[in-house]
Amino acid sequence: MSEPLRIDTDSRGIATVTMNRPAVHNAFDDALIGELDRAFRALAADDAVRVVVLASEGKSFSAGADLNWMKRMAGYSDAENYADALGLARMLDAIDCCPKPVIAAVQGAALGGGVGLVAACDIAVAAEEAKFGLTEVRLGIIPAVISPHVIAAIGRRASRRYMLTGERFGAAEALRLGLVHEVVAGAELGAATQGIAEHLLKAGPEALAACKTLIRTVGDMPLGEEVAAYTARQIADRRASDEGREGIGAFLEKRKPRWMAQ
Ligand code: COA
Repeated sequence: MSEPLRIDTDSRGIATVTMNRPAVHNAFDDALIGELDRAFRALAADDAVRVVVLASEGKSFSAGADLNWMKRMAGYSDAENYADALGLARMLDAIDCCPKPVIAAVQGAALGGGVGLVAACDIAVAAEEAKFGLTEVRLGIIPAVISPHVIAAIGRRASRRYMLTGERFGAAEALRLGLVHEVVAGAELGAATQGIAEHLLKAGPEALAACKTLIRTVGDMPLGEEVAAYTARQIADRRASDEGREGIGAFLEKRKPRWMAQ
């Protein structure tokens, strides 16, 4: 049997994580969830990795939860069923909170948990024929574990429509909702993703990790003293850091910063 997940890292530090269950449209079961979780935790800790691309093999990006696995779990004890569901939540968190920027490259269908995967990534590029849908209610279930990521990506209003209707929508609507950032011809998906990765390689790696934490934290804070103190602390730390000194110094000295030297 072929591996459900492949990881390839190039010499520039772009790691491509490829879901590889094309026969079931990259639906994820407990095994693939475990592999994704381990992969993102390992990539997070690997200094050689600067950018991660989440891609998939075959016609579809991901048909979401493997419905055979969901059916199987229904027969387990409540404690086992719950523990298993927590595994999916932890995997999505590992992607969302990965200190490296993560780009989703979406072809074909991204349904249910597939939308959750897209939403957990920082940046998403879709092929123009990509199709999306939060189909859970049509199966008598709900988009529970993916909801924090999806609501953060498209907001409550759009979530109310698409989580309730379960209807499918195309790449143009996904772009309008902010679920994806760019729509390209299918043949251009790889090049468009690499183009974004190249922008990210120009950024200080520690700055990218700190920036992800900043967005997550400030996004949940109201304006006021607390957010002012938090943001002032962040920039004070960054400009005094080795990386901040190097980046500003390189600009003023008209040279490339050391993270772009290779
Ligand atoms: N879980 C398990 N198996 C799945 C699956 C899923 N989420 N999605 C598709 N498959 C399987 C199908 O059962 C089928 O298996 P078979 O070859 O043994 O019959 C195989 O993948 C091919 O699917 P099929 O529907 O024949 O392909 P298609 O190209 O016509 O459509 C999809 C592809 C993804 C659009 C369609 O399969 C689909 O809508 N899947 C359901 C997705 C969904 O609602 N996910 C939300 C889960 S919470």
